[in-house]
Amino acid sequence: MSDHTPARVTTRTLREQEQGRERAYAALERARRRTLALTDCLDEAGLTAQHSRLMSPLAWDLAHIGNQEDLWLLREAGGRPGVRPELDAVYDAFRTPRADRPALPMLPPDAARAYVAEVREQAMEVLAAAPEDAGPLFEGDFVFGMVAQHEQQHDETMLATHQLRRGPAVLDAPDPPAPRSRGTEEAGGEVPVPAGPFIMGTSTDPWALDNERPAHTVDVPAFELDVTPVTNGAYQRFIEDGGYQEERWWHPEGWAYVQQAELSAPLFWRREGGNWLRRRFGYTERVPPGEPVLHVSWYEADAYARWAGRRLPTEAEWEKAARYDPATGRSRRYPWGEAEPEAGHANLGQRHLRPAPAGAYPAGAAPCGARQLMGDVWEWTSTDFTGYPGFTAFPYREYSEVFFGPGHKVLRGGSFGTDPVACRATFRNWDLPVRRQIFAGFRTARSTGGDAGGAH
Ligand code: AVJ
Ligand code: FE
Repeated sequence: MSDHTPARVTTRTLREQEQGRERAYAALERARRRTLALTDCLDEAGLTAQHSRLMSPLAWDLAHIGNQEDLWLLREAGGRPGVRPELDAVYDAFRTPRADRPALPMLPPDAARAYVAEVREQAMEVLAAAPEDAGPLFEGDFVFGMVAQHEQQHDETMLATHQLRRGPAVLDAPDPPAPRSRGTEEAGGEVPVPAGPFIMGTSTDPWALDNERPAHTVDVPAFELDVTPVTNGAYQRFIEDGGYQEERWWHPEGWAYVQQAELSAPLFWRREGGNWLRRRFGYTERVPPGEPVLHVSWYEADAYARWAGRRLPTEAEWEKAARYDPATGRSRRYPWGEAEPEAGHANLGQRHLRPAPAGAYPAGAAPCGARQLMGDVWEWTSTDFTGYPGFTAFPYREYSEVFFGPGHKVLRGGSFGTDPVACRATFRNWDLPVRRQIFAGFRTARSTGGDAGGAH
């Protein structure tokens, strides 16, 4: 059975139960504040328009968030009739692809706001009554964590819709911190990760989603990993060296894709005079060379890596670099340890609307010395999205399992748009290798041999 099934009689003290509920309440509350901030800043037309065929109208995301909460917290967990179960047909992501959603009989923005508020009011009653021994959905308050993560995932999707939207800026945020010093290890370079086994995934994190489970041992040969994500400046050298015109760097499907889509730079970039400019949340600015490159597809990341004489890291390599502590032999929850992310650890949570320069966040470094594994940009890995050995879909196949297979590539680490509740060193994201509107960049790796001492 799934490792969500309680293996022991749950014996949290009353105080622990109380703390669990407070954590769930705070996560749901924070998600809702963000959802409203991302939707209150546009008028009715801005919320119902489709800003890109890749995305839903924002009013659809808003009511879909409420509909999932209606389904999972009120009906499935709470045993209630739900606020508006008849809306399932409109807000089921599997019934209607994003491109076709504008034609759905969607709630207008004000009705959507009223709907999500009504659902939330009842969800708070379910949370207040949450019994400890009511089955796997409630264990460790999982279902509340799942719903909070779902809302935050859509908040990141809505942020991507904002980035695609044309017109004057409506979002603003202060810039992230620059690196404190410019040591050589910060500006670039690589760090060794010696060969050996480590624990990948988790069986104990109460809010880990099904695809992060169960914990299992993976033996990883020695490799070197970039200290930071690849920067705009480095990526520009690939462009200027004719990278987009040379078939030999590209995966065959990637080569067909760049030809057909006529790609020559990351999404949102354009060349003017001798300079690269980019559009970012309604502003146009010079591309900052020291910042991690953003809005590249898996195919572009893969081609860059080959041009550089390197390759994308595998998912297991990424997670080992991010979690494995050679001093204890254990896997951490975050690169810096077990502590919840703070402002000095990583650029997460939409505090800034751009990545921090490469080399920032020394306090967030992993034991191997790699930086910015959490936050800034999602990082493409070479690995297809599949279930770990012993995977069990929970609580629904459509979260992960239906996406398993060679079509989707795994991304790791979260971006500036990801909330900490939906990000940890075990968290797995995935997308099609052609996608560029997500907040994705990458770093590169190379093999250094299989012996335990490494070879460098
Ligand atoms: C995990 C980001 C790929 O947006 O398709 C939202 C998250 N799943 N609603 C997605 C999700 C259901 C998912 N990703
Ligand atoms: Fe969803």
